[in-house]
Amino acid sequence: MSGKPLVILSRPLPESVLAPLRDIAEIELWRQQTQIDRGTLLAAVGRAQGLICMLTERVDRELLAHSPKLLAVSSMSVGVDHIDRNALTERGIPLGNTPGVLVETTADLVFALLLAAARRVCEADRFVRGGNWLPQNRWAPDMLLGRDIHGATLGIIGLGDIGQAVARRAAGFNMSVLAWTRSGRQLPGLESVSLERLLAESDFISINVALEPETQMLLDAAAIAKMKPGAVLVNAARGGIVDEQALCRALQSGHLSAAGIDVFEHEPVAPDNPLLSLPNVVLTPHIGSATEATRRQMATMAVANMVAALQGTAMPHCVNPEVYR
Ligand code: DGY
Repeated sequence: MSGKPLVILSRPLPESVLAPLRDIAEIELWRQQTQIDRGTLLAAVGRAQGLICMLTERVDRELLAHSPKLLAVSSMSVGVDHIDRNALTERGIPLGNTPGVLVETTADLVFALLLAAARRVCEADRFVRGGNWLPQNRWAPDMLLGRDIHGATLGIIGLGDIGQAVARRAAGFNMSVLAWTRSGRQLPGLESVSLERLLAESDFISINVALEPETQMLLDAAAIAKMKPGAVLVNAARGGIVDEQALCRALQSGHLSAAGIDVFEHEPVAPDNPLLSLPNVVLTPHIGSATEATRRQMATMAVANMVAALQGTAMPHCVNPEVYR
């Protein structure tokens, strides 16, 4: 390779974070705060040795076909369901991600959604702002009644780092925790149970698995029907894990009392998605890791992965380490 390699960056990142990469590479930055359009991305990767992307960019066989020089892909995300890992591995291209640093921040959001959904915080906020809090209903024994979190049973689907961080928070609320993992993994202090039992006995369920072919629609209509009546579902993992239509029906019928949803099958969520019209759903726009400190750490890791790859060493956080064998 003559001269510095070229790295395409699909979103602006702080210059201080980019400094180590600037020393060894030319950086072509998508400077707009909106998502890079597909055509521009496909044209840009044709010239590049490196791509630092977000979960908004699909890295698939089509993109690879446009990228004859590509040596490394680094995603500023822990989830890599937007990337065809096998296609990269076939080309010997390492794929980096950003595990670990967003664990506690995402678990915080899980609890924010859980608390808000259970205690109807957003409904209450709309009630007050809507001018509905009047002298005649200043306080009523049945006003905006929610569900107790303390002492309830929380079912955690997926006991990776985020699932475990959610369990730690649950202990502070004196919740009983049931957990289910595909591997049947046991962890001290957590009761690992079958998915059936978790669905049937949990007052709250938090989804904390990655979206993979095996977890696609894990909570389909049949699974949702098995959930405890009145339960609350929280999903800050990936939208494709839950059947949104079935979830809507369960929320409308009262089978489930509420939900807190940060992730959707299609993002951004369509304006006619029925979840948007349900008062008992708290919605956020995929902000699980969205704190200044965590996003900075994610960006730093994404850059470190790319720097390592361009220097010919193993990425510190590589999703397909088999490319190094
Ligand atoms: C990830 O990194 O996969 C998250 O969904 C983004 O916060």
